[in-house]
Amino acid sequence: MNDQEVGEYWNRNAPAWTTLARAGYDVYRNHLNTPAFFAWLPPVAGLAGLDIGCGEGYNTRLLAQQRAHVTALDIAPAFVEAAQQTEAAEPLGIRYLVGSAAALPFAAEAFDFATSFMCLMDVPDPALALREAFRVLRPGGFLQFSISHPCFTTPHRQNLRDAQGRPYAVEVGGYFDYQHGQPEEWMFHAAPAQEQARYEPFRVPVFNLTMSQWVAAIVAAGFVLEGLQEPCPTDEQMVAHPFLRKARVVPYFLHFRCRKPLT
Ligand SMILES: C[S@@+](CC[C@H](N)C(=O)[O-])C[C@H]1O[C@@H](n2cnc3c(N)ncnc32)[C@H](O)[C@@H]1O
Repeated sequence: MNDQEVGEYWNRNAPAWTTLARAGYDVYRNHLNTPAFFAWLPPVAGLAGLDIGCGEGYNTRLLAQQRAHVTALDIAPAFVEAAQQTEAAEPLGIRYLVGSAAALPFAAEAFDFATSFMCLMDVPDPALALREAFRVLRPGGFLQFSISHPCFTTPHRQNLRDAQGRPYAVEVGGYFDYQHGQPEEWMFHAAPAQEQARYEPFRVPVFNLTMSQWVAAIVAAGFVLEGLQEPCPTDEQMVAHPFLRKARVVPYFLHFRCRKPLT
């Protein structure tokens, strides 16, 4: 499967995804993953940034609100159209375009930083996407990106619950069994059942790299790996959003920050 075929899946997901995410049902993104990402992000005010795989633009808008000059791209035209409509209604100076992480339509060294929120695990060749991100960054610039945690988002995964129904462990398996684009179906389970029933489940092709393959691809692209983080909900976050409890058992997300060396 190539990146354009993956984009067709995402384009079909886009209308329901946009509606449900904008209704607040992407609770892991809104209340755990994104806050942790921005808490870790170096200052970006005044910098030229690229958001790779922007979707309907939720995180892109947060970047622009930090006074970064943001360009954003996504492979799915329906997502870019939704993002552009919001930009037209509430301008933040964001430039959106359709394009692929695998062939970024920008000159070398065009950006001070790049972000990618939950996109790079969805591209068939993430090593190529990392090389592209490296190419468009100026020396000294950084890429910070989030992905589903590769150690716990495996071909076999089952949440285990105690007698009271509380999640206490996750059974994982098939970690080394690479899937080249086998579609997985899922939904925002925080949405009420009647809302979920109005839409087809999302279908997302899976390309599961191991942890060591991710680090090897980052290093091979030329980056220096600055750090990793694994968002974990605080007690306060779990009280406010009990849905997040499962992400306290094992990490759901993994964040990388990589730097393009000065020389
Ligand atoms: C899980 S969504 C995340 C969207 C957004 N970043 C957010 O955090 O809400 C993954 C996004 O990656 C996009 N995508 C997948 N493959 C891509 C590629 N090769 N190039 C650019 N975007 C891609 C999809 O269209 C989708 O919008």
